[in-house]
Amino acid sequence: MTKENKKKRILSGMRPTGKMHLGNFVGALENWVELQNSNKYKNYHLIADYHVLTTNTDSSDILDNTLDMISDWLAVGIDPEKSPIFRQSQIKEHSELHLIFSMLITTARLERNPTLKEQLQDLKVENITYGHLGYPVLQAADILLYRGEVVPVGEDQAPHVEITREIARKFNKTYGKVFPVPKTKLTNFARLPGLDRKKMSKSVGNTILISDKKKEIEKKMMKAITDPKKIRLHDPGRPEICLVFTYHQKFNPEEEREIKKNCKSGALGCVECKKRCAAAINDFLAPFREKRNYYSKNKDEVLDIIKDGEKRAQKVALETMKRVHEVMKLG
Ligand code: TRP
Repeated sequence: MTKENKKKRILSGMRPTGKMHLGNFVGALENWVELQNSNKYKNYHLIADYHVLTTNTDSSDILDNTLDMISDWLAVGIDPEKSPIFRQSQIKEHSELHLIFSMLITTARLERNPTLKEQLQDLKVENITYGHLGYPVLQAADILLYRGEVVPVGEDQAPHVEITREIARKFNKTYGKVFPVPKTKLTNFARLPGLDRKKMSKSVGNTILISDKKKEIEKKMMKAITDPKKIRLHDPGRPEICLVFTYHQKFNPEEEREIKKNCKSGALGCVECKKRCAAAINDFLAPFREKRNYYSKNKDEVLDIIKDGEKRAQKVALETMKRVHEVMKLG
């Protein structure tokens, strides 16, 4: 085996929701870049554009959102030479494998998926579509088409990887061994909450974006929720329950101890603390900015990068489907 072939394959992806926020960065992107640069893995990164349609059939923004999202991926260090980036919709084998897998799992199993239950509640969906129920089946096809072994995702996606493992085993047992049984790799830092302490999410409007400029970060930070009992400047605060302190821990570790001490004693007021936090986040994002600006002005180049990724991903997808057809005695 060549060195390149010995590397474990990573498959991860996101639905194209447009510009990325710090929650996306901490929950996934940072991890992907680290794994990519460790040289122990071969990363594949998928744009789940068909998955978008499970909750919103309007497809008119998908391409714009894809280009915005990928500009951020590239800005934070996904290297498309090493790690192909590609759209699910452009590699037909995703749909084909999804169809085959849909026979290997029961609807009862899919109805038990906790991520789905949460989503139906959040979105107040009463009548679920066939495609939405099958969300994890398409995700299993995404992962297994590249014979992915490691899937770095946030906690909410772990049930989908579990279903993928079940489908892989079932396929191998029924037809012959083609697929690895992949493992979830959770990110080190728990979910980064949004400015209102709820889950950071574009639809809620509680985000700080990777592409935000200094002024925007400062303005947003002023709205962040702190310890509700710390009302006046010199009231003692409780950093352990303060959102801004969580951000300091992640983006300003050098000052973490001093801030904790001075917040608790009352020496540090929230306004000053927020200014320092905004400055730290700004410094953290500064190195990504130049690349981000470049790609936002050169969308054609971003699309070329994706198309190139699609050519490379397609090769792997065809190899896998050839094996699938062989063991199934089709064709
Ligand atoms: N469901 C994932 C999310 O919402 C996106 C996704 C689609 C994915 N296919 C994948 C993630 C395959 C990991 C592997 O974030």
